[in-house]
Amino acid sequence: MKALITGGAGFVGSHLTDHLIAQGHEVTVLDDLSTGQLSNLSDALDGPNGARVSMVEGSITDAALVDEMVAQVDTVFHLAAAVGVFTIQTKTLDSMRVNLHGTETVLDAAHRHGARFLLTSTSEVYGKNTAIGLHEDADRIIGSPLKSRWSYAEAKALDEAFTHQYVVHLGLAAVMVRMFNTVGPRQSGRYGMVLPRLVKQALAGEPLTVYGTGNQSRCFGHVGDVVPALATLIETDAAIGQVFNIGNPEQVSINELAERIIAKTGSASPIVHLPYLEAYGPGYEDMERRVPDCSRLHDLIGFTPTHSLDDSIEAVIDDQFDQVGLSADQSIAG
Ligand SMILES: NC(=O)c1ccc[n+]([C@@H]2O[C@H](COP(=O)([O-])OP(=O)(O)OC[C@H]3O[C@@H](n4cnc5c(N)ncnc54)[C@H](O)[C@@H]3O)[C@@H](O)[C@H]2O)c1
Repeated sequence: MKALITGGAGFVGSHLTDHLIAQGHEVTVLDDLSTGQLSNLSDALDGPNGARVSMVEGSITDAALVDEMVAQVDTVFHLAAAVGVFTIQTKTLDSMRVNLHGTETVLDAAHRHGARFLLTSTSEVYGKNTAIGLHEDADRIIGSPLKSRWSYAEAKALDEAFTHQYVVHLGLAAVMVRMFNTVGPRQSGRYGMVLPRLVKQALAGEPLTVYGTGNQSRCFGHVGDVVPALATLIETDAAIGQVFNIGNPEQVSINELAERIIAKTGSASPIVHLPYLEAYGPGYEDMERRVPDCSRLHDLIGFTPTHSLDDSIEAVIDDQFDQVGLSADQSIAG
């Protein structure tokens, strides 16, 4: 495989880069480093397979650059996007441009050059649907399009619809993946991702700020389970034209997540609650839970998550210790 990974310097994209080059493939990354970091690619670029990786700094909204880069590959993993609640709430227009026009630009180039295409969509498309075990055909329950909070979900849903039409009408070999909350090393907490943010607070001895009541639950999938599935799906002919949930159905309330982080880090930090209005500004709406049904993915490629929530929490703690040069064993209680 000669693969282009848009957003390859980000959290998921850098793990995908590591995975693909370890499998013997060649990878080119296109990333504007807006939320990603070059250091995420250090293992790939400086490791034994470094000759098979290259990184170009640029935007997916640059049609000429995208065309030139897609022309040189046979496979496109499209991960670049404006992500994170803080980014979407504060830079709504720019985010929509990237998530709508940027995706169309990459999709169109993949079609022009006959490349396989994988779209990373999101569980956000289900909006406020709280069914336990959201199936891919579940209805979307979305708030007003004038609430910027939903613009990410709307853009990703249109990305899916667009991709689907390229498959149906233009014969593009494309697959869509709805990722539920995905966590692991290298994920930044700066843009609203709860697990790395709470771990950082616990390690700094600061209060862990839980937004809302904290009774809302979430499911966290480990990036080490997600990435191999993405690589397998794009090579699976029966996946073409379909959308797949990917995640881990193990639920945890955000209050319990914070308690587990405190226990595992041995932190003396308290947990404090912040109203959504103060955390995200006006117009924010949340959902009680979001639980994936991954049976479609299991039936096609045998997907089963192998990492528990505790594994994920420990991986994020280890990663943040590594960043400050401590070993996890020195500080993690129990
Ligand atoms: N991590 C999750 O929980 C999760 C859940 C659902 C969906 N997703 C999707 O997975 C993909 C990867 O997300 P992530 O969690 O790794 O986030 P991330 O922020 O780490 O990665 C996104 C990458 O895209 C890059 N990027 C942003 N705008 C760009 C542009 N205009 N041109 C080129 N590069 C650009 C960023 O610099 C970053 O490296 C995204 O499409 C996201 O919507 C992630």
